[in-house]
Amino acid sequence: MSIIETTNLIGQEINIVGWVDTKRDHGKIAFIDLRDRTAKVQVVLVPSSLDEVSKSLMSEIRPEWVLKIRGLVKARPDRLINPDLATGTIEIEALGIEVLNTALTPIFPLDQDKNEISEELRLQYRYLDLRRPEMYDNLLKRHKINQFVRNFLDKEGFLEVETPILTKSTPEGARDFIVPSRHQVGSFYALPQSPQQYKQLLMAGGVERYFQIARCFRDEDTRKDRQPEFTQLDMEMSFVSEEDIMALNEKLLIELVQTLYPEKKIQSIPFPSISYAEAMEKYGNDRPDIREDKEDNDLLAFCWIVDFPQFEKTEEGNWTFSHNPFSAPKPEYMENLMATKDIETIISTQYDIVLNGFEIGGGSIRSHKPEALRKVLEIIGYEGEIVDKSFGHILTALASGTPPHGGIAWGMDRLLAVLQNESSIREVIAFPKTGDAQDPMMQSPSSVSIEQLVELGISIKKQ
Ligand code: AMO
Repeated sequence: MSIIETTNLIGQEINIVGWVDTKRDHGKIAFIDLRDRTAKVQVVLVPSSLDEVSKSLMSEIRPEWVLKIRGLVKARPDRLINPDLATGTIEIEALGIEVLNTALTPIFPLDQDKNEISEELRLQYRYLDLRRPEMYDNLLKRHKINQFVRNFLDKEGFLEVETPILTKSTPEGARDFIVPSRHQVGSFYALPQSPQQYKQLLMAGGVERYFQIARCFRDEDTRKDRQPEFTQLDMEMSFVSEEDIMALNEKLLIELVQTLYPEKKIQSIPFPSISYAEAMEKYGNDRPDIREDKEDNDLLAFCWIVDFPQFEKTEEGNWTFSHNPFSAPKPEYMENLMATKDIETIISTQYDIVLNGFEIGGGSIRSHKPEALRKVLEIIGYEGEIVDKSFGHILTALASGTPPHGGIAWGMDRLLAVLQNESSIREVIAFPKTGDAQDPMMQSPSSVSIEQLVELGISIKKQ
């Protein structure tokens, strides 16, 4: 039985299990707040009600011990009702105590504001940190969102497909994590920066409507809204326009908020659409926070950013893609693209979705004809052999009856952080990495044995 269920059982004898949240000793009587994932409840320990074994345990019990308590549910007198506790109308008179496990003194108090504790320590002892109700709530909401999204997309005819983690680099603008191959010594897999190429290949494979709650890996500097591994809600659809994809995603976001966050208000429906040029001119960036009231935690200001330039200049003065090379230009710019004319004026089909100043997703219609992708690659400086080596598979797929298609990916961690009013995505990830991409609990990354290195043909150059 979970603790929250005890509130309806006044007068009954029950068994509950949980952790000792706090203990207050008053000589002959002691109070324990027992906590499980659903709630805390006050347990009263009086020697006269306890069996002999339990009596002897009374003085030993410490915070974070795991107990099973047999007890009687009692209504609290009116003046003792605790409105701050979900179980504040009752208390449990203990009849028997069983110690399921003892606990080391917690390295930090679990009732202390998490922002006052060093994050390194919180991550080193993440299992303790996760016992905080607010951390459980973050995981619970994450689960609910995943469930909601799965149900919604299932009803819309989408197929959830898993794509490989051991793969080949896809240029998404970040550095790859690479994994050495034992079978082909000297060759490496790359971990996917996103499932971009695979989802397009699924469209080539006739899947038509794909989604995945996908883990992505990017070796970039970690920030409050960036992790080296993070989660996307990734989607791709065949035979659709930009408007179709945006409308479906807008509907999903609205229904998700209205169902799981009924206390929150969406500032404007339909979501406003702002051109990249207008965003840059008016707000100085392409992820504007357009909230009318920035003090209100429950206000959600979504907007779409559209009409991005297809290409931008690198520091060296060459052309590069502004999002990824697979995005198609808007149809009216296709002629210019194919003629390599007025490159700087070409507008892409890219759209980003922004929430309260965070880019929470982005996507586009793709070049589904090989000539168009080849042209984009040529403009950004990929020519000849390298094109066939790096992109041959997708160019061949596009030449093999790939339907017109497009998609989007949400940054799930960012969306959750905003919805949960957390300032960092690390709060909504069960086991995140620190700022320098380490996991202090598992102590990773770590060195490996000489034997492993030899097998992979790798030798380490001492710094
Ligand atoms: P993009 O690179 O814009 O697009 O990524 C999509 C969304 O993922 C989130 N995101 C991140 N979240 C946490 N940590 C990171 N390091 C990180 N990097 C990105 C952002 C972003 O909007 N394949 C394309 C999508 C497509 O075109 O369909 C892609 O990955 O919220």
